[in-house]
Formats: sequence, C-alpha cells, structure tokens
Amino acid sequence: MAMITFRINRYNPDDERRGHYVQEYALDVCKGCTVLDALNQIKWEQDGSLTFRRSCRSGICGSCAMTIKGVNRLACETQVLALKSPNVTVEPMRGYPDIKDLVVSLDPLVRGLLAVRPYLITKTPPPSDQERLQSPEERARLDGLYECILCGACTSSCPSFWADKEYIGPHAFLKAYRFVADSRDEGSREHLEALDDKHGLWRCHTIFNCVEACPKDLNPTRAIGELKKELVRQRIG
Ligand code: FES
Repeated sequence: MAMITFRINRYNPDDERRGHYVQEYALDVCKGCTVLDALNQIKWEQDGSLTFRRSCRSGICGSCAMTIKGVNRLACETQVLALKSPNVTVEPMRGYPDIKDLVVSLDPLVRGLLAVRPYLITKTPPPSDQERLQSPEERARLDGLYECILCGACTSSCPSFWADKEYIGPHAFLKAYRFVADSRDEGSREHLEALDDKHGLWRCHTIFNCVEACPKDLNPTRAIGELKKELVRQRIG
C-alpha cells in the first residue's frame, strides 16, 4: 500500500465563477490498483460530485481516456504504482470542449469520423450469394488498423488539432485507411474525398504525438502516409 495524492482538474459548468480548479484527494493505493479504481474509490467514499466517464473497465470501450501525469492514457489500464510518484495529476484530455471535471465533448472526434465514411463501400454485387471473401493475406493487411477503440487520445495529443478545431484528426485517418486497405472495399474515392482539404491530411506535420498517445499501440502516422500516397496516385491516375 502507498499513500498517493491525486490532483484532479475540476470544472462545473453550473459554477462559472469558480472556473477550473485543482482539488486534491489522498488515497491508500494497493498494488494493481488502476487510476480508474482510485477515481471510483474517491467518488464512492470521498466526493460523489467527481465526474468522469467509464464503462468496460477492460481497455475496450475507450470511455476512460484522460490525461494522467501529462500523458493521455486509459485510466482503467494505468496502474497507479507504476507511475512511480506520490502525486498523480489527472486532467481532462486537451483540445476537446470541457463538459464537467474529466468529461469532455467528443463531438470533434465524431465529426472527423463521419467525414471519412467509416464503413465498407461496395459497388458491385458480391461474387457469391453469401459473402465477400478475403484471403488470409488480405485480412492480415488490416492488422493494426481495425483495433482503434475511438478513445480520442491521439487527436487530443495532436498540435494540428490544437491549432485547427476542424482538423479531421488521426483517429479518422486511421479509420479511413482501415477501409481503403480493405480488399473488399470499392469506395476509396469516397473515403478520401474529405481528406484532400485544408482540414485534412495535408495538415499533418508528422509529429508522431498520435503514435505515442495511442493506448492500443497503433500507428496513425503510417496510415496518414499511406493515404497521402493513395491520394497522389488518384490525382495522377
Ligand atoms: S473503461 Fe472502457 S476503456 Fe477504460
């Protein structure tokens, strides 16, 4: 067990006069305890007004993404003692509009996602009357692309997004490439249409913050490079 002080950024839209402030909570933390466990304990035992999102508790749903000790992480996958500090700052993810305490609006994330048409587009009838088949090699090309849980950690860490709130964002680029790379998809022009724009691919400056921030170890920067090549191919072709 270790006594840890959590310094949590708080904000209540019903108390604009107070604005944003930091509140401290001290907690005895045991080995294996995650930041989400600690937040739950604070909420249940010390301060029921503390607000944060969570759902699966298994690193699957993406709802508990927040900035912990200055880094975007999933609270349910971050062990407190692994942070090796008696003080742990917890903040809402940067760049998104604040709603309350650690909860941010993910509207910009959803806007970017919808812009790339994140679904399989087909134009020809399936070759059999059952399904569109893929070889194991074609299926393997999607590894590292389909696992995104849409937590928003990548886009929140991107300076291009900080500067341009209409920037489509690395999460959406990764999703677009997931379909462009899919052997069954016939809609790469449609997926790429919104990306060839001042708020699209060309605004990425290859800073790699998105790669560092991704809790699933995905590589949006590589996807962005592949999409740029595909756009150039389409323009030339
Ligand atoms: S609660 Fe679902 S990813 Fe953390």
